[in-house]
Amino acid sequence: MKDCEWEIKWSDTLCVGVPEIDEEHRNFVARINALNKAVVECKPKTTVERLLDLILMEAAHHFWHEQQLLNQWKYPQRSAHAAKHAQLTAQFERVMKEFERADVSFTWALKGLHIKQLLIDHLLQEDMKYRDFLLRKKQSAPKSRQCRVARRGEPTTA
Ligand SMILES: [Fe+2]
Ligand SMILES: [Fe+2]
Repeated sequence: MKDCEWEIKWSDTLCVGVPEIDEEHRNFVARINALNKAVVECKPKTTVERLLDLILMEAAHHFWHEQQLLNQWKYPQRSAHAAKHAQLTAQFERVMKEFERADVSFTWALKGLHIKQLLIDHLLQEDMKYRDFLLRKKQSAPKSRQCRVARRGEPTTA
């Protein structure tokens, strides 16, 4: 059987470099693949709805968790990022209402896929911005934290 073109493959380019967040993102990709599979295989609306409910519940926790860390890291765009999460949550609620109202399978399947797209777009566009910020922070850290005088028995850093 041929590979599924719709399946999102996790790759290192999606990593933000924070293990707990990468784990949550990796979980989203797995959930989204399960959602896609259910839609492609024409599973009943209740099955797709259960998957969407799970994704949205986990997304709410993930957004909260991410915001805690962004504050901790003093990420300069943390307020804008939190606003994006709030905007996304409102969009999820709107699309879920449309999903619930839809009685034609084609329509509710599209609504389900819309939620998937919103999440993926956020990961690729917004979360990658703080990934870059963390990278820059990491790159500049060794110089500022470099020990000028090594203690006895310790290797010198210069
Ligand atoms: Fe985010
Ligand atoms: Fe995220």
